[in-house]
Amino acid sequence: MPLKVNYGVDYNDDYNVYEDDNYHYDDLYEYENEKRDITHQTKAKQEVIRTGAWRCPICTYDNEDSMSECDICGALRNCLVRISQTGDSTADTFHAGGGRCKSSGASVMAKSLFASFRHRAPAKSVAFEAKNDAVLIEDAFIIRRNFQEFLRAFSSQKHQNINIAAPFKFDSPSPDDLVSTRLHSSKLDSKANFKRLSSLDMSTREREKNILIESELGTEGPNSSSASVARDGGVKERDFASDCGIKPEILVSRMRSVSLSSKSRTGNVNEETGTSNLEYKPEAWMIPDQAEDRLSQLNLAIVGHVDSGKSTLSGRLLHLLGRISQKEMHRHEKEAKQQGKGSFAYAWALDESAEERERGITMTVAVAFFNSRKYHVVLLDSPGHRDFVPNMISGATQADAAILVVDASMGSFEAGLDPIGGQTREHALLIRSFGVDQIIVVVNKMDVVEYSQERFEMVKQKLGTFLRSCGFKDSSVLWVPASSMENQNLVATPDERLFSWFHGPCLLDAIDSLQLPARDYSKPLLMPICDIIKSQSQGQVSTCGKLVTGAIRTGSKVLIMPSREVATIRSLERDSQACKIARSGDNVTVNLQGIENNHVTAGGVLCHPDFPVRVSNHLELKILVLDIKIPILSGSQLELHIHHAKEAATVVKILSLLDPKTGKVTKKSPRCILAKQNAVVEVVLQGSVCVEEYAKSRALGRVSLRSSGRTVALGLVTQIMKTQ
Ligand code: GTP
Ligand code: MG
Repeated sequence: MPLKVNYGVDYNDDYNVYEDDNYHYDDLYEYENEKRDITHQTKAKQEVIRTGAWRCPICTYDNEDSMSECDICGALRNCLVRISQTGDSTADTFHAGGGRCKSSGASVMAKSLFASFRHRAPAKSVAFEAKNDAVLIEDAFIIRRNFQEFLRAFSSQKHQNINIAAPFKFDSPSPDDLVSTRLHSSKLDSKANFKRLSSLDMSTREREKNILIESELGTEGPNSSSASVARDGGVKERDFASDCGIKPEILVSRMRSVSLSSKSRTGNVNEETGTSNLEYKPEAWMIPDQAEDRLSQLNLAIVGHVDSGKSTLSGRLLHLLGRISQKEMHRHEKEAKQQGKGSFAYAWALDESAEERERGITMTVAVAFFNSRKYHVVLLDSPGHRDFVPNMISGATQADAAILVVDASMGSFEAGLDPIGGQTREHALLIRSFGVDQIIVVVNKMDVVEYSQERFEMVKQKLGTFLRSCGFKDSSVLWVPASSMENQNLVATPDERLFSWFHGPCLLDAIDSLQLPARDYSKPLLMPICDIIKSQSQGQVSTCGKLVTGAIRTGSKVLIMPSREVATIRSLERDSQACKIARSGDNVTVNLQGIENNHVTAGGVLCHPDFPVRVSNHLELKILVLDIKIPILSGSQLELHIHHAKEAATVVKILSLLDPKTGKVTKKSPRCILAKQNAVVEVVLQGSVCVEEYAKSRALGRVSLRSSGRTVALGLVTQIMKTQ
């Protein structure tokens, strides 16, 4: 049922590290139909170890009985304590003499990683040298160091109650926190700016541009997601206006004046055709009829650290809501069991490729659909492994809101927040940079921590601090403790015995409480192409993606960029069902006719024939640099991601450093950009991309820059130069 979206990306070379290793998930889990049996059998399986050995609860390596710490990761033999159902802790989880952990916190991925390093990890501990560049260190040693930090943190704390073995020091702000604190200040600043706007003393256009850009990077877009669609379908202004104490209409008109001023800098005239967007008048059918009896489409990205249970959660949800039949589910269970990966049965509903199933990880985004009471939800199940972040970016740029899945189990939640390899961090930052401001945090695998309220509160407190620093407002973050495996708190109120302490909404209700961001029907069509399906036999080509602005219907003519070819829409599909019209926000498959297959590419854009999107390989960007170790210099080679396109980029000029709060230039032509600095740079791309200035189109004017498999900066397109 789910549609796999293959963006044609790629895993970094270092993914090959795992390629030769045989994963032995088989002996880790056994799937059983009955949930009680699942828990029982899984636990039982974890306790099976050979005599004279003890199994490390972190990396699952079987150590000799004489060892007091794990030979692979250095974890102490008796380091974890047990969480009772009430949240009390006792020190008996590791059975005396055995060191067995009843509910090991190690994720399957972590286990497999460690399993794969067995044959090459040194027998003795290797001290990690902090001065080394972590980027260059072999994966095994990075993980090793993380666990050594984990141990240090552990041994320096008194664990009277719950075991919170966090390798991070949240009391001293992390580099990302510092970046985000600045973001936060710029957020406040932007609010202040709006107040200033209300007294109409905003004079220069440069200043207006800064506000627009700062406010987006700094969390609150002036007109991004602060608008939402009211129940009756009308567009209303949300929280932001009330926060500022400004009446919505005034804010809208002032925002318009800001946007127009920004536009006027570029003249808002398409340099290719000489046409202006202001000349565009939508036709009547393009504006939705409020009486139309159709659920609004909500694009929901599922993101989070590897192995946190995103696909299992998605599969479970689809099954519970009747989108996966019992017969199909039986087939997945049977096949998964046959391959010794019974616990992945629900994930297999989304992870369809043989490679994904064999490795037990998601590699490309899976798209699935279900209906809640309020929405037709498009579920975008993202890969969590760091090698597939480019795929995650491409899929999650379509999101209206996100579900961030975190693994509650010991060590796994902490690994997700690790500044080096933690995808909880990177995904949260990326998703916020795509303009998503509403997020549901599912604290999954609560069964592993015996539904401990204390553990949930700890996760909430630590992750909450980080999310706040990314720019998520507390009121826009919903917390849902759940267990996908035991079907707790997904579509119905959980088992009273387990969730006696939780009185919030279940996941499905939390989804229904999300609000739709404003849809832009008044602008010409823009639909970045996420994927293409070519039918050789019929000579047809179909494109998939989300309409950013405008509308299309059967028979409409569309311009395909960058090939500049015109095609006619033969038919449209939403959730594999034919439909006549698709409007801004809809995620559809567009079947085209009158076009050669090779003129349509993923990463291209469908647009209105009279309003083509710009195409360029030379851009001016305003960037916010994340926690990097190697400074960005003129000549630095990076990877630029913009909507569904990816291109190699070279920084050709560093124009200025900016004050993150005011946006004012603090230094012209600096030699380099360091971590946490804001700067304006010029980049030249290897190939051209479809792009718009951010002030003109948010979706086509946001970029992320990556290097060595990590996101190093988030940015906005401030100027499109002539193609070189
Ligand atoms: P990637 O897509 O590769 O990042 O992984 P993922 O986040 O989709 O995780 P996936 O759904 O593949 O699950 C990983 C492992 O966690 C599987 O073995 C699941 O059975 C297990 N898992 C998922 N949810 C739960 C849960 O609620 N409880 C327990 N105990 N295990 C779970
Ligand atoms: Mg997955």
